[in-house]
Amino acid sequence: MTSPADRDELLPVFARGAELAGQRRDRLADDAILPATAYQIVHDEMMLDGNARLNLATFVGTWMDGHADRLYAEAADKNMIDKDEYPSTAAIEDRCRRILADLWHAPDPDAAIGTSTTGSSEACMLGGLAFKRRWQHARRAAGKGTEKPNLVMSSAVQVCWEKFCNYFDVEARCVPISDEHPVLDGHDLAAWVDENTIGVVAIMGVTYTGMYEPVEKIVDALDRIQADTGLDVPVHVDGASGAMVAPFLQPDLAWDFRLPRVHSISTSGHKYGLVYPGVGWVVWRERQWLPEDLVFEVSYLGGSMPTFALNFSRPGAQVLLQYYVLLRLGRAGYTAVQRNCRDVARYLADGIGRLGAFDLWNDGSDIPVFAWRLREGHTENWTLHDLSDRLRMKGWLVPAYPLPDALADRTVQRIVVRNGLSGDLADRLLADITAETAYLDKLSSPMPADGQTPSFHH
Ligand SMILES: Cc1ncc(COP(=O)(O)O)c(C=O)c1O
Repeated sequence: MTSPADRDELLPVFARGAELAGQRRDRLADDAILPATAYQIVHDEMMLDGNARLNLATFVGTWMDGHADRLYAEAADKNMIDKDEYPSTAAIEDRCRRILADLWHAPDPDAAIGTSTTGSSEACMLGGLAFKRRWQHARRAAGKGTEKPNLVMSSAVQVCWEKFCNYFDVEARCVPISDEHPVLDGHDLAAWVDENTIGVVAIMGVTYTGMYEPVEKIVDALDRIQADTGLDVPVHVDGASGAMVAPFLQPDLAWDFRLPRVHSISTSGHKYGLVYPGVGWVVWRERQWLPEDLVFEVSYLGGSMPTFALNFSRPGAQVLLQYYVLLRLGRAGYTAVQRNCRDVARYLADGIGRLGAFDLWNDGSDIPVFAWRLREGHTENWTLHDLSDRLRMKGWLVPAYPLPDALADRTVQRIVVRNGLSGDLADRLLADITAETAYLDKLSSPMPADGQTPSFHH
C-alpha cells in the first residue's frame, strides 16, 4: 500500500494533495507530507510578510553578510546553556562580554560581569532584578521593610520596563515627558526618588524618537539627592540601540561606566550590534553589583559555570554571530557602518524637513533614528496614518503613532535607519514620501471641475 506522501512524489509541487485549497492548517494533520511540499507551503506563506529590508519601523537587524549566514547555518543546533557540550561557544560569549565591558569603559573589563540574553528585554529585566535584590539586601540589613520597591524612569520607556515592574512587583514611577523635557534629564528628580527607589533607568536611544537621555545630568541629579538625603540610587543604562552607537559616533559622550553611578548597561546585539534577532547583552561594572544569590551554577567541563538568565535553553548561534561581527568590523568597521546610517538618517530628515508639510521632532544625530509630525496648519484633511498607508502600498513600512501620555495628542512618524538602507534606497524612499505627500495634498483639495478625481476620506 502506498502512503499519500509516496503518491505525491511524482506530482508537480503545486498539484500535490497537501497544496490543495481548503486544507485546515490549525490542527495537526493525520498524515505526513513530503518535505519539499511542506517547505513550499511555509515558504509561500512567508512571501506575504513584508520585505524586512523595507521595514523602517524595526530596530532589529535584517541584513548580515554571506559569511555570517554560513556561520548561522553551521551553528543552528547550538544551545547556549550547554556550556559543557559547547565550551568554545561559552568562551566566545565570555570574550564578547569583555569586549563590551571594555567598549563601555568598565574600570577593569576583566572584572566586570555580564551575560548574553535573548534581547534587551531580558537584559533589562536582569538589570532590574539585580537592583531589586541589592535594595532588598540593604533594606533588610538596616531592619527596614521591602514591600514597596519602585523604579524611576521616563514615561517614554520601552514596554520591557513596564513588564519588568508588572512581573516582578515593582512600582513603575514614570516621569512624564513634555515639550520642555522631551527626555528624562534629571529635572525635578528628587520629587520621584525616595528610600524605596531601587534604581533609575536612563535610555540611550529613546524608542519613540531615537533621542539620547543625558545620563550625566541624571547622575548629577542623583549625586545631589545623595548629598541632600543620603540615598544612594544606582543607574541602569538601557542602551538597546545607543550602547552600540555612542561608542563609535559620540566617543566623548560620558554615558557609560565612566560614570561610577552607572551599575549596569544593556544592549540589543540584534539592533546596532548588527546581528540577526535573538541576542542581547547586560554587563555590570563590577561583580559586587550583581547579588550572588541571583546566580545559578550550571555544569561546565566537569566544573560549574555561573549563569543569570530567565530562560534555560536558548540559541547559541547569535552569540557566535555577535563575535563574528565584533571580529570582522572592529572599531573602524562599526564606526563606518554607524556613521553611514547616521548620514542616511540626516539626509532623509533634511529632505523630509524641506517638504514644508512636516516639522522634525529630531534629526537623527543621536542614533540614526528620527521622527517628525505634521506641521500645524498644513492640512486638516489627512494624517500621518494616511501617509503611512500610502507608503505601505509602495512596500515601505514607516509607522505613525502617538507619543506617550502628556504628549499623546501628538502623532509622529519615525524612520529607523539600519545597516542596509543604502543611499540609493534612501533616495527612492524620499521620492516616494515626496510623491505621496503631494498626492494626499492634491486629493484633499476641493474636487476638480471634471469630477473625475474622488476626494479622499480617512
Ligand atoms: C530603549 C529600548 N529598550 C528595550 C527594548 C527591547 O529590546 P528587545 O527587542 O531587544 O527585547 C527596545 C526595543 O526597541 C528599546 O528601544
